[in-house]
Amino acid sequence: MINKEIADALNSQMNFEMYSANIYMSMASWFDAKNLTGCANWMKIQYAEEMFHCTKFYNYINERGARVLIDGMPAPATEWDSPLAAFETALGHEQIVTSRINDLVAQAIEAKDHATVNFLQWFIGEQVEEEASVDGVIQQLKLMEGAPGGLFMLDRELGQRVFTPPAK
Ligand code: FEO
Repeated sequence: MINKEIADALNSQMNFEMYSANIYMSMASWFDAKNLTGCANWMKIQYAEEMFHCTKFYNYINERGARVLIDGMPAPATEWDSPLAAFETALGHEQIVTSRINDLVAQAIEAKDHATVNFLQWFIGEQVEEEASVDGVIQQLKLMEGAPGGLFMLDRELGQRVFTPPAK
């Protein structure tokens, strides 16, 4: 059994992962509307990753004997100024997630909840990948600024991304 403060914090993060998923699906829709279907695919895969994260929190909360609670989430934004702006927003969001995970670890250490500290280690590694993955796209978008056809090529490349459930 976990204490109430830790259960609340884990529930909050579980809901934040679902909110993250909504943001990426909203970005997918924006890209699809612009016929950038590869970028949209990249965002849909990101949605699937976030739902995987959400379910991982769900299962852990449940396993530890606490109740999973879904709360109201803010509606995601629906418009961005450019593909680069959308991916930069995504990176900023991932940096917030990283900071939240770090705070959760600190809280679990403070509560001497070593099982939760152990559970969260997976997310520490995952956030390094999450930030690097978005940043990789941002760097490519910046490199191709002013290069005709660059976005078309990148869109084709991002269309190849597939969802591979991360190791548990
Ligand atoms: Fe679940 Fe992208 O952090």
